[in-house]
Amino acid sequence: MAIDKKFINQFINVTSKAALASSYLIGKKDKIAADKAAVDSMRSELNKIDIHGEIVIGEGELDEAPMLYIGETVGTKNGPIFDIAVDPLEGTNFVANDLPGALSVIAIAEKNSLFSAPETYMEKIAARVNEKNIIDLDYTVKQNINNLSDYLNKNPENLTACILDRPRHKKIIEELKKLRVNLKLITDGDVSGALLVSEEKHAVDIFLGIGGGPEGVLAAAALDAYNCNFQGRFIFKSHEEVSRAKKMGINDLTKKYELNEIVIGDSIFCATGITSGDLVEGIEIKDNEFFSETLVTHKSSGLNKVIKLKQNL
Ligand code: FBP
Repeated sequence: MAIDKKFINQFINVTSKAALASSYLIGKKDKIAADKAAVDSMRSELNKIDIHGEIVIGEGELDEAPMLYIGETVGTKNGPIFDIAVDPLEGTNFVANDLPGALSVIAIAEKNSLFSAPETYMEKIAARVNEKNIIDLDYTVKQNINNLSDYLNKNPENLTACILDRPRHKKIIEELKKLRVNLKLITDGDVSGALLVSEEKHAVDIFLGIGGGPEGVLAAAALDAYNCNFQGRFIFKSHEEVSRAKKMGINDLTKKYELNEIVIGDSIFCATGITSGDLVEGIEIKDNEFFSETLVTHKSSGLNKVIKLKQNL
């Protein structure tokens, strides 16, 4: 079933208010306060909406985080039942240090339709392809690039790959360099990194590498509203991570998840800029008003665009 369009504006309001709350902490060198401001705002705005929402991706589990924890219910409870994934502040470093690219992010799907991802790393790959077997987590970097090069009819030296700049990616980055692929190395914020493959105007052809699992699910929800492919595979580094995953119902720990296993059916995705970045501009405050930009997708209605809003403070 489709999610009613009437919810789109209500969720844009949720991320734009969370972005505003966090924007007061830009450059204050306090990641925790910036995150808390976004979380508090997001929770209170969600609780005003006529939905019965369950947080499936949030600020950790009940024993760790008191707000927007996995399993928490939000909304007035008068309305449809939704799965909700939140990242109230994606890019805590960006806000703390006044750097580009911080977002406030939410994804909504129907009950039991969004993957409840544990707080572990995820190996990811995404590209603007709507055919199977072009990109795949099981292929080598070379195979993926060659396939994509054929598919897009572009030489590897005209392809751009986005990847988090981390020592763990040394080998992949070396491979990409050898293939003469252009690199867009990002310091943080791989929800945005993955979404750069969504449209040609961003000039990124493939996103790959290891980042947060929850961020992978959020990016997949948005990419599902474009003609894009995404795959993710969790990486568990400790017994504790394994037992948490098992508690969440993940039994096959090495499974490669396809996009349609991560997000099923209809979804809404909203990402509002806190600081300006590649996808959207950040919050601007003027007199008694604030301006926000939100990238919004609604799969069933084919919506995927940036919405600019002017709201009263
Ligand atoms: P935070 O907003 O929680 O700081 O996450 C930022 C981020 O860059 C994510 O976008 C990414 O998935 C993850 O951190 C990567 O983790 P790490 O910094 O450990 O490589």
